[in-house]
Amino acid sequence: MPAYATQVKIARSFGAASHSYDVSARLQRYSGKHLMPWLPNINDLTVLDLGSGTGFFTNILASQYQQVIGLDMSRLMINYAQENRVKDIHWLLGDAFKMPLQDESIDLVYSNLVIQWCDPLEKALKEILRVLKPGGLFIFSTLADGTLNELKSSWAQVDDDQHVIDFKTERELSSLFNTSQSILIEQNCQDIVLEYESVLHLAHELKGLGANQVPKKLLKGLAGKDKWDKMTDSYKDFQEPDGIYPATYKVFSGVLVKLEN
Ligand SMILES: C[S@@+](CC[C@H](N)C(=O)[O-])C[C@H]1O[C@@H](n2cnc3c(N)ncnc32)[C@H](O)[C@@H]1O
Repeated sequence: MPAYATQVKIARSFGAASHSYDVSARLQRYSGKHLMPWLPNINDLTVLDLGSGTGFFTNILASQYQQVIGLDMSRLMINYAQENRVKDIHWLLGDAFKMPLQDESIDLVYSNLVIQWCDPLEKALKEILRVLKPGGLFIFSTLADGTLNELKSSWAQVDDDQHVIDFKTERELSSLFNTSQSILIEQNCQDIVLEYESVLHLAHELKGLGANQVPKKLLKGLAGKDKWDKMTDSYKDFQEPDGIYPATYKVFSGVLVKLEN
Protein backbone atom coordinates (compact mmCIF):
# COMPACT_ATOMS: atom_id res chain seq x y z
CA MET A 1 0.00 0.00 0.00
CA PRO A 2 1.45 3.46 -0.88
CA ALA A 3 2.73 5.37 2.17
CA TYR A 4 0.23 8.21 1.58
CA ALA A 5 -2.75 5.82 1.59
CA THR A 6 -1.51 4.27 4.85
CA GLN A 7 -1.26 7.71 6.47
CA VAL A 8 -4.80 8.57 5.35
CA LYS A 9 -6.15 5.35 6.89
CA ILE A 10 -4.35 5.91 10.19
CA ALA A 11 -5.57 9.53 10.33
CA ARG A 12 -9.17 8.43 9.57
CA SER A 13 -9.08 5.78 12.24
CA PHE A 14 -7.87 8.24 14.90
CA GLY A 15 -10.26 10.92 13.64
CA ALA A 16 -13.23 8.57 14.03
CA ALA A 17 -12.15 8.07 17.64
CA SER A 18 -11.74 11.76 18.56
CA HIS A 19 -14.83 11.74 20.85
CA SER A 20 -14.24 8.32 22.46
CA TYR A 21 -10.45 8.67 22.85
CA ASP A 22 -10.20 10.36 26.25
CA VAL A 23 -12.27 7.75 28.11
CA SER A 24 -10.29 4.89 26.54
CA ALA A 25 -6.80 6.36 27.02
CA ARG A 26 -5.69 4.55 30.22
CA LEU A 27 -2.28 3.59 28.83
CA GLN A 28 -1.71 6.95 27.12
CA ARG A 29 -2.44 8.87 30.34
CA TYR A 30 -0.01 6.70 32.28
CA SER A 31 2.82 6.90 29.76
CA GLY A 32 2.35 10.63 29.08
CA LYS A 33 2.55 11.46 32.80
CA HIS A 34 5.60 9.24 33.14
CA LEU A 35 7.42 11.62 30.71
CA MET A 36 6.71 14.72 32.83
CA PRO A 37 9.70 14.46 35.22
CA TRP A 38 12.00 14.70 32.19
CA LEU A 39 10.57 18.05 31.09
CA PRO A 40 13.05 20.94 31.46
CA ASN A 41 12.28 23.49 34.14
CA ILE A 42 12.68 26.53 31.88
CA ASN A 43 9.54 28.36 30.74
CA ASP A 44 10.87 30.34 27.86
CA LEU A 45 10.70 27.49 25.32
CA THR A 46 8.90 26.73 22.06
CA VAL A 47 7.39 23.28 22.50
CA LEU A 48 5.84 20.95 19.95
CA ASP A 49 3.44 18.18 20.99
CA LEU A 50 3.86 15.79 18.08
CA GLY A 51 0.72 13.68 17.49
CA SER A 52 -1.22 15.77 20.00
CA GLY A 53 -4.50 13.81 19.62
CA THR A 54 -7.25 15.32 21.78
CA GLY A 55 -4.70 17.74 23.27
CA PHE A 56 -4.77 16.44 26.86
CA PHE A 57 -0.98 16.71 27.26
CA THR A 58 -0.72 19.78 25.00
CA ASN A 59 -2.88 21.56 27.58
CA ILE A 60 -0.53 20.55 30.40
CA LEU A 61 2.49 21.70 28.35
CA ALA A 62 0.74 25.04 27.72
CA SER A 63 0.49 25.63 31.48
CA GLN A 64 4.28 25.40 31.70
CA TYR A 65 5.78 26.76 28.49
CA GLN A 66 5.60 30.06 26.67
CA GLN A 67 4.74 28.85 23.17
CA VAL A 68 3.08 25.49 22.56
CA ILE A 69 2.15 23.92 19.24
CA GLY A 70 -0.06 20.83 18.93
CA LEU A 71 0.42 18.97 15.65
CA ASP A 72 -1.62 16.01 14.46
CA MET A 73 -2.38 14.51 11.07
CA SER A 74 -6.05 13.94 11.93
CA ARG A 75 -8.25 16.96 11.17
CA LEU A 76 -10.93 15.66 13.56
CA MET A 77 -8.41 15.32 16.42
CA ILE A 78 -7.21 18.89 15.80
CA ASN A 79 -10.83 20.14 15.75
CA TYR A 80 -11.62 18.35 19.01
CA ALA A 81 -8.48 19.72 20.70
CA GLN A 82 -9.18 23.25 19.47
CA GLU A 83 -12.68 23.14 20.97
CA ASN A 84 -11.73 21.58 24.30
CA ARG A 85 -8.34 22.98 25.31
CA VAL A 86 -6.95 26.37 26.37
CA LYS A 87 -7.03 29.03 23.70
CA ASP A 88 -3.37 30.01 23.51
CA ILE A 89 -2.19 26.74 21.92
CA HIS A 90 -1.29 26.91 18.25
CA TRP A 91 -2.86 23.91 16.45
CA LEU A 92 -1.38 22.55 13.24
CA LEU A 93 -2.64 19.87 10.88
CA GLY A 94 0.47 18.06 9.70
CA ASP A 95 2.34 14.84 9.24
CA ALA A 96 5.37 13.84 11.34
CA PHE A 97 7.14 12.99 8.06
CA LYS A 98 6.79 16.53 6.68
CA MET A 99 5.97 19.10 9.32
CA PRO A 100 4.91 22.63 8.38
CA LEU A 101 7.63 24.05 10.64
CA GLN A 102 10.87 25.91 10.01
CA ASP A 103 14.29 24.29 10.43
CA GLU A 104 15.68 24.60 13.97
CA SER A 105 12.58 26.39 15.29
CA ILE A 106 11.64 24.12 18.25
CA ASP A 107 13.34 23.76 21.65
CA LEU A 108 11.46 20.66 22.79
CA VAL A 109 9.46 18.01 20.95
CA TYR A 110 7.18 16.02 23.28
CA SER A 111 5.45 12.97 21.80
CA ASN A 112 3.41 10.42 23.70
CA LEU A 113 2.60 7.08 22.03
CA VAL A 114 2.65 8.35 18.46
CA ILE A 115 5.83 7.31 16.68
CA GLN A 116 4.95 3.59 16.70
CA TRP A 117 2.62 4.67 13.87
CA CYS A 118 5.50 6.20 11.87
CA ASP A 119 6.97 3.81 9.35
CA PRO A 120 9.80 4.26 8.49
CA LEU A 121 10.63 5.72 11.89
CA GLU A 122 14.11 6.80 10.69
CA LYS A 123 12.42 9.25 8.30
CA ALA A 124 10.24 10.75 11.05
CA LEU A 125 13.29 11.06 13.31
CA LYS A 126 15.15 12.94 10.56
CA GLU A 127 12.23 15.37 10.37
CA ILE A 128 12.15 15.80 14.17
CA LEU A 129 15.89 16.57 14.11
CA ARG A 130 15.33 19.07 11.29
CA VAL A 131 12.85 21.15 13.33
CA LEU A 132 14.76 20.88 16.63
CA LYS A 133 17.28 23.57 17.54
CA PRO A 134 20.81 22.31 18.27
CA GLY A 135 20.79 21.25 21.92
CA GLY A 136 16.99 20.73 21.70
CA LEU A 137 15.26 17.76 23.26
CA PHE A 138 12.93 15.05 22.00
CA ILE A 139 11.03 13.52 24.93
CA PHE A 140 8.92 10.60 23.81
CA SER A 141 7.24 7.31 24.49
CA THR A 142 6.49 4.58 21.99
CA LEU A 143 5.62 0.88 21.98
CA ALA A 144 8.18 -1.88 21.56
CA ASP A 145 7.99 -5.47 20.36
CA GLY A 146 6.15 -7.58 22.94
CA THR A 147 3.19 -5.19 22.92
CA LEU A 148 -0.16 -7.01 22.63
CA ASN A 149 1.72 -10.32 22.47
CA GLU A 150 -1.31 -12.15 23.95
CA LEU A 151 -3.52 -10.89 21.09
CA LYS A 152 -0.83 -11.54 18.49
CA SER A 153 -0.24 -15.12 19.57
CA SER A 154 -3.99 -15.84 19.90
CA TRP A 155 -4.51 -14.69 16.30
CA ALA A 156 -1.51 -16.78 15.21
CA GLN A 157 -3.54 -19.86 16.23
CA VAL A 158 -6.19 -18.83 13.70
CA ASP A 159 -4.52 -17.52 10.52
CA ASP A 160 -1.30 -16.05 9.05
CA ASP A 161 -2.68 -12.54 8.61
CA GLN A 162 -1.28 -9.54 10.50
CA HIS A 163 -3.61 -8.42 13.30
CA VAL A 164 -1.21 -6.32 15.37
CA ILE A 165 1.12 -3.67 13.92
CA ASP A 166 4.89 -4.32 13.82
CA PHE A 167 6.78 -2.87 16.76
CA LYS A 168 10.55 -2.40 16.84
CA THR A 169 12.52 -4.24 19.50
CA GLU A 170 13.93 -2.38 22.48
CA ARG A 171 17.43 -2.83 21.06
CA GLU A 172 16.40 -1.53 17.60
CA LEU A 173 14.84 1.53 19.20
CA SER A 174 17.89 2.40 21.31
CA SER A 175 20.24 2.12 18.36
CA LEU A 176 17.94 4.07 16.01
CA PHE A 177 17.92 7.16 18.24
CA ASN A 178 21.70 7.38 18.48
CA THR A 179 22.71 9.04 15.21
CA SER A 180 25.48 11.37 14.02
CA GLN A 181 23.14 14.22 15.02
CA SER A 182 21.63 12.89 18.24
CA ILE A 183 22.13 10.86 21.40
CA LEU A 184 19.66 9.15 23.65
CA ILE A 185 20.51 10.42 27.12
CA GLU A 186 17.70 8.65 28.99
CA GLN A 187 15.79 5.50 28.23
CA ASN A 188 13.36 3.25 29.99
CA CYS A 189 11.41 0.20 28.90
CA GLN A 190 8.55 -1.04 31.01
CA ASP A 191 5.88 -3.73 30.65
CA ILE A 192 2.47 -2.37 31.52
CA VAL A 193 -0.25 -4.97 31.83
CA LEU A 194 -3.81 -3.69 31.53
CA GLU A 195 -6.77 -5.77 32.59
CA TYR A 196 -9.87 -6.48 30.52
CA GLU A 197 -13.15 -8.20 31.31
CA SER A 198 -13.12 -9.92 27.92
CA VAL A 199 -11.31 -9.90 24.59
CA LEU A 200 -14.22 -7.84 23.26
CA HIS A 201 -13.47 -5.23 25.92
CA LEU A 202 -9.86 -5.04 24.63
CA ALA A 203 -11.08 -4.78 21.02
CA HIS A 204 -13.50 -1.98 22.00
CA GLU A 205 -10.76 -0.08 23.80
CA LEU A 206 -8.43 -0.27 20.77
CA LYS A 207 -11.29 0.93 18.55
CA GLY A 208 -12.20 3.71 21.02
CA LEU A 209 -8.60 4.91 20.76
CA GLY A 210 -8.53 4.66 16.97
CA ALA A 211 -5.59 2.29 17.40
CA ASN A 212 -7.22 -0.60 15.53
CA GLN A 213 -5.74 0.16 12.09
CA VAL A 214 -3.26 -2.49 10.85
CA PRO A 215 -1.87 -1.28 7.50
CA LYS A 216 -0.27 -4.64 6.60
CA LYS A 217 -3.42 -6.70 7.29
CA LEU A 218 -4.30 -8.58 4.11
CA LEU A 219 -7.95 -9.37 4.74
CA LYS A 220 -9.68 -6.07 5.42
CA GLY A 221 -12.64 -5.57 7.72
CA LEU A 222 -13.83 -7.61 10.66
CA ALA A 223 -12.89 -11.26 11.06
CA GLY A 224 -15.69 -13.81 10.57
CA LYS A 225 -17.44 -15.12 13.67
CA ASP A 226 -15.67 -18.49 13.50
CA LYS A 227 -12.23 -16.91 13.40
CA TRP A 228 -13.11 -14.47 16.18
CA ASP A 229 -14.43 -17.31 18.39
CA LYS A 230 -11.29 -19.37 17.77
CA MET A 231 -9.04 -16.43 18.61
CA THR A 232 -10.92 -15.57 21.83
CA ASP A 233 -10.77 -19.23 22.80
CA SER A 234 -6.96 -19.18 22.41
CA TYR A 235 -6.77 -15.96 24.44
CA LYS A 236 -8.22 -17.95 27.38
CA ASP A 237 -4.72 -19.45 27.80
CA PHE A 238 -3.69 -16.06 29.19
CA GLN A 239 -6.75 -15.58 31.38
CA GLU A 240 -5.94 -15.03 35.05
CA PRO A 241 -7.54 -17.11 37.85
CA ASP A 242 -9.93 -14.23 38.65
CA GLY A 243 -11.21 -14.31 35.04
CA ILE A 244 -9.37 -11.14 33.95
CA TYR A 245 -7.86 -10.97 30.45
CA PRO A 246 -4.44 -9.26 30.49
CA ALA A 247 -2.88 -7.30 27.63
CA THR A 248 0.78 -6.33 27.78
CA TYR A 249 2.10 -3.03 26.46
CA LYS A 250 5.88 -2.59 26.32
CA VAL A 251 6.37 1.13 26.71
CA PHE A 252 9.74 2.48 25.60
CA SER A 253 10.39 6.07 26.63
CA GLY A 254 13.39 8.29 26.32
CA VAL A 255 15.05 11.67 26.04
CA LEU A 256 17.10 12.44 22.97
CA VAL A 257 19.29 15.49 22.59
CA LYS A 258 20.11 17.02 19.22
CA LEU A 259 23.84 17.58 19.13
CA GLU A 260 25.25 21.06 18.56
CA ASN A 261 26.57 21.53 15.00
C1 LIG B 1 -2.41 7.17 20.50
S1 LIG B 1 -2.77 8.79 19.94
C2 LIG B 1 -1.82 9.74 21.12
C3 LIG B 1 -2.37 11.14 21.29
C4 LIG B 1 -1.70 11.99 22.36
N1 LIG B 1 -0.28 12.10 22.12
C5 LIG B 1 -1.97 11.44 23.76
O1 LIG B 1 -1.02 11.13 24.46
O2 LIG B 1 -3.14 11.35 24.16
C6 LIG B 1 -1.79 8.94 18.47
C7 LIG B 1 -2.01 10.26 17.72
O3 LIG B 1 -0.95 10.39 16.78
C8 LIG B 1 -1.46 10.88 15.56
N2 LIG B 1 -0.53 10.47 14.50
C9 LIG B 1 -0.25 9.20 14.09
N3 LIG B 1 0.65 9.24 13.10
C10 LIG B 1 0.97 10.54 12.89
C11 LIG B 1 1.83 11.22 11.98
N4 LIG B 1 2.56 10.56 11.08
N5 LIG B 1 1.89 12.56 12.04
C12 LIG B 1 1.15 13.26 12.93
N6 LIG B 1 0.29 12.67 13.80
C13 LIG B 1 0.21 11.33 13.79
C14 LIG B 1 -2.85 10.27 15.46
O4 LIG B 1 -3.69 10.99 14.59
C15 LIG B 1 -3.31 10.32 16.92
O5 LIG B 1 -4.00 11.50 17.23
